[in-house]
Amino acid sequence: MKTKITELFGIEHPIIQGGMHFVGFAEMAAAVSEAGGLGIITGLTQGTPEKLANEIRRCHEMTKKPFGVNLTFLPSVTPPDYPGYIRAIVEGGIKVVETAGNNPQKWLPALKDAGIKVIHKCTSVRHSLKAESIGCDAVSVDGFECGGHPGEDDVPNFILLPRAAEELKIPFVASGGMADGRSLVAALSLGAEGMNMGTRFMATKEAPIHDHVKQALVAASELDTRLVMRPLRNTERVLKNAAVDRLLEKEKALGSNLKFEDILPEVAGVYPKIMKEGAMDAGAWSCGMVAGLIHDVPTVKELIDRIMSEADGIIGRRLAGFAKA
Ligand SMILES: Cc1cc2nc3c(=O)[nH]c(=O)nc-3n(C[C@H](O)[C@H](O)[C@H](O)COP(=O)(O)O)c2cc1C
Repeated sequence: MKTKITELFGIEHPIIQGGMHFVGFAEMAAAVSEAGGLGIITGLTQGTPEKLANEIRRCHEMTKKPFGVNLTFLPSVTPPDYPGYIRAIVEGGIKVVETAGNNPQKWLPALKDAGIKVIHKCTSVRHSLKAESIGCDAVSVDGFECGGHPGEDDVPNFILLPRAAEELKIPFVASGGMADGRSLVAALSLGAEGMNMGTRFMATKEAPIHDHVKQALVAASELDTRLVMRPLRNTERVLKNAAVDRLLEKEKALGSNLKFEDILPEVAGVYPKIMKEGAMDAGAWSCGMVAGLIHDVPTVKELIDRIMSEADGIIGRRLAGFAKA
């Protein structure tokens, strides 16, 4: 399939794997890129620019196809060494960066000077327009359904995507709630040039995470996610578990007095315990409502091939059938 996104990134299928903390290692990114999508290494998970440089090298050994790096800009008292991460990205020959979190304007010149294409992930039309105005090449429009940080506007993709299409000149992909060929065709219908998936890619054979996490995704329904940290205006969609129940109790009890320190045991440093050790109640971890559409753990290639043939079938038979009737 050819779209503005496949052309922009030099990939075969308009499917991107979004950055995921403690999931987006070289194994994940390489599997997606090898299958014709765009795999993305999650920069900050590596901990230091040197380790990111090494992870990029490992990924180059696993695939000759294009892959990207995610840089998440977090509000933080002691910010990560972003200049160092950018140096690792440029020197590692990366051609696509997915930015997320805060406005990436400060870091764009260094990326653009190195010929790197930037796709900024954000959750509103106004932030998408800002990304366009500062020179981003594309946007990943993340609806309220998404796993991770859906922002504070709560606009689902059935409204957000066509609104983005009304306003944007640069191409965008649909992110949040995407799982299969139906998602892809719907995204294209609503004006997107492809889709970005997070949660769905976790339930694949190659995802370098504990099997407990994959099985939890298969078992979960669309009713099993919760929004945490709403009172801190740092909302995150996570899978319900014992730690999340505890966290929500604290939010209820403390109300507007809630501080980040109050919930540290449920959110700080929990990802390695969950993703590596499979300790499913160790804390809150990002998960999209799309868990309700995940029923198996295929290889990444099986998943992407299935999505593309399903999409072909919907466009060529189902929709073409309606057009003829
Ligand atoms: C476990 C997990 C970790 C994530 N970590 C990050 C991250 O570190 N940076 C980021 O920009 N997005 C992160 N995301 C968001 C994804 O890149 C993507 O935007 C989102 O998962 C899309 O929604 P979906 O899960 O419904 O497909 C994460 C998502 C998940 C499920």
